[in-house]
Amino acid sequence: MPLTRKAYRAAILHSIADPAEVGIEASYEYFEDGLLVVDNGQISALGHARELLASLPADIEITHYQDALITPGFIDTHIHLPQTGMVGAYGEQLLDWLNTYTFPCESQFADRAHAEEVAEIFIKELLRNGTTTALVFGSVHPQSVNAFFAAAEKLDLRMIAGKVMMDRNAPDYLTDTAESSYLESKALIERWHGKGRLHYAVTPRFAPTSTPEQLTLAGQLLGEYPDLYMQTHISENLQEVEWVKELFPERKGYLDVYDHYQLLGERSVFAHGVHLCDDECARLAQTGSAVAFCPTSNLFLGSGLFNLPMAEKHKLNVGLGTDVGGGTSFSLLQTLNEAYKVMQLQGARLSPFKSLYLATLGGARALRLEERIGTLQPGTDADFLVLDYNATPLLGYRLKQSKSIAETLFVLMTLGDDRTVAQTYAAGNLVHQR
Ligand code: GUN
Ligand code: ZN
Repeated sequence: MPLTRKAYRAAILHSIADPAEVGIEASYEYFEDGLLVVDNGQISALGHARELLASLPADIEITHYQDALITPGFIDTHIHLPQTGMVGAYGEQLLDWLNTYTFPCESQFADRAHAEEVAEIFIKELLRNGTTTALVFGSVHPQSVNAFFAAAEKLDLRMIAGKVMMDRNAPDYLTDTAESSYLESKALIERWHGKGRLHYAVTPRFAPTSTPEQLTLAGQLLGEYPDLYMQTHISENLQEVEWVKELFPERKGYLDVYDHYQLLGERSVFAHGVHLCDDECARLAQTGSAVAFCPTSNLFLGSGLFNLPMAEKHKLNVGLGTDVGGGTSFSLLQTLNEAYKVMQLQGARLSPFKSLYLATLGGARALRLEERIGTLQPGTDADFLVLDYNATPLLGYRLKQSKSIAETLFVLMTLGDDRTVAQTYAAGNLVHQR
């Protein structure tokens, strides 16, 4: 392949550290008139346009975006492919919501053509919203993951997914067995894990829907291949927490169930964690595990308010999750809008730079991919967005009053959504154009 070099000129902003650790000012880099240079799918230079232009050949192709902000692609650390068709299901909290809406919707993935159709819609929706990497739950059917990875591979996306393992407390039409879930997961790992930019996640749905035998085999799988991910749910809803205590009376608590089956670790991501206690946060941090904070879901399902300051106190890795279809938007901008309110209700503040961190570098760190994605550092994958300051009349008018990049960023996160994402680039390719 010939070397392809392109440059993009606009205002450019990225996170370079967690504001909770280094303070806000040292947590980001901002170039008011910046230049991003991309060579063969990777970022090769980032800086002030005037300085960088002098070092580049005169004939380099430069795309100049006016009234726009380039940021890294967003990272969604928790989302469900087979719930795309049931976003906004009325009236229930977690356990009834699963039985009434979720399981019937996921059962449609027994049909391969349906799985392929939804995978295409789902990936389009991710890219329309500026999400370039996601940690994705499939359904119990292996073809949900085959369909998803096949669609992601065509666009050379960096994606992580796994087939749900679920062998009890769910309808018969949607359960596997401990052994079949092990074998099916293994076949998917062999086929997809490490192929291009794809990674596999061992995916026990949550403790109530797995037997001890299935959890044992999930832990075993993690030991059999390097760099596998593990994703599940934890302490989302109070009834759920009580149920886990009844099902596993011999364990100290919810997290201890997963700990016992060796499911904690540097590539383990636990969704929600709304009702985690201090000791559980400490244990998650100690094992290098991460939590996916899913504010639109936690509000929509009435689950509760995630305690981000407690996670920060323990230096626990936190990413942001949409949790579609419990969550109500594919947009990480809208997810941050709700995250801000979740903090307000607890008397805490979520600064726009912490928000940017959560949606980009924080997510990358939760997934141990910060050397590849989450920033615009030279040497990383060219996964980036062009956000349009004039996406809507109100946004354009409001941003004209802005006096700082902090204010602009906060307004983008409060008023912005899929309309704000004018272009999405993955591995240097334009994969969405509004
Ligand atoms: N807990 C177990 N399964 C699910 C799910 O599909 N969505 C959410 N939000 N929580 C869960
Ligand atoms: Zn979920």
